[in-house]
Amino acid sequence: MQDTITNETSTHSAVDGAVLTGRPVISSTGLFTPEESITNEELVESFNQYVNRYNTANAETIEAGEVEALTYSSVGFIEKASGIKARHVMSKAPILDPDIMSPRWDERSNDERSMMCEIGVTAALQALERAGRKPEDVDAVLCAASNMERPYPAMAIEIQQALGIEGFGFDMNVACSSATFGIQTAADYVRAGNAKSVLVVSPEITSGHLNWRDRDSHFIFGDVATAVLVEDEAIAPEAHWEILSTKLKTVFSNNIRNNFGFLNRAAPDSASNADKLFIQEGRKVFKEVVPMVAQMIIDEAKRLQMDPTTLRRLWLHQANAGMNRLIAQRVLGHEANDDESPTVLDTYGNTSSAGSIIAFHSHSDDLSAGDTGLICSFGAGYSAGTVFVRKTS
Ligand code: COA
Repeated sequence: MQDTITNETSTHSAVDGAVLTGRPVISSTGLFTPEESITNEELVESFNQYVNRYNTANAETIEAGEVEALTYSSVGFIEKASGIKARHVMSKAPILDPDIMSPRWDERSNDERSMMCEIGVTAALQALERAGRKPEDVDAVLCAASNMERPYPAMAIEIQQALGIEGFGFDMNVACSSATFGIQTAADYVRAGNAKSVLVVSPEITSGHLNWRDRDSHFIFGDVATAVLVEDEAIAPEAHWEILSTKLKTVFSNNIRNNFGFLNRAAPDSASNADKLFIQEGRKVFKEVVPMVAQMIIDEAKRLQMDPTTLRRLWLHQANAGMNRLIAQRVLGHEANDDESPTVLDTYGNTSSAGSIIAFHSHSDDLSAGDTGLICSFGAGYSAGTVFVRKTS
């Protein structure tokens, strides 16, 4: 494809007039990490205080067999079952307060930047800076995340406005796969010649939908924001990542579910039940998603006539160290080391759609020109996305 974009967004830009190739690349990434972090020890101490209080307050009904006593959480279990040692959060103290166990902050006025916008902008600015890109050169902003702070106006449009980008923006939610679905969407705009530069921003404030009182899942999530700048090769900085292919897959499952939504008010009696936060059948997810994702990667590599065992690095979704170990083993044909399949799960926890992007952002500078790698996410839906990339220089 040979075309130039002549819409308003590029009239005064340094990339104006570039002969576009229709070949999408990743020009850069950005990352925002909240300052505060909760260790497993802190989390379990607070959870177990809550258990003691609950069991004391309900001693009589527990004794009578009418109410089930709560059970302690354990640091050893969390680390062994998930690989998570700590997670960053936007609001630590109230989460650890056994009387609250939820993030807390003042509601912002309509004139202030919303929280997802604020952290998304921080990650996006880093991505723009790393690519040497000016906001006026960007055509579109996608806010791709598992939860949106409000239905409208779109978070993406607020981020777009805050960055000074013209063009358009919209939100998309494919749970843990939002970022890779966003990358494919952005890449398709580039392939079709409808945009030359697209920001995919994933602000994940997962602490807002995690049930911190649920022993089975209270340790899973952390907060973060990432940004990926997808561009036409013609305008990309010299050091970039060619996007060799993008592939998406969805298969309906109730095993990871969140029933929070605008129709909850129609059934007020159950509007604050536990299913209005994240719930999952973790074992089933583990067993069903591992083979699905491994096969998807192998099939796509075959379609690309690539031997998957030659992939230099896998930047996998960061939900569970055991899942990643199994997927990497099936794809690479041997047990992967940290260099082949890096983890950020230990310090970030599961950051939903941002996880594989954090891994890519933090562990890609050392690769050499010509190295191929895979960004891969998977999660609720079920949904899975693969992005095969090759480093240019
Ligand atoms: N502390 C101590 N023990 C705990 C515990 C906790 N916080 N939570 C559960 N347990 C116990 C269970 O009660 C169970 O005990 P039992 O054997 O006596 O019945 C035992 O540990 C095993 O529980 P289980 O839920 O089967 O653990 P698991 O090994 O499957 O690990 C997950 C749980 C969630 C870490 C794991 O299933 C997982 O990561 N699955 C994939 C999740 C995923 O990717 N989700 C996507 C989210 S986007």
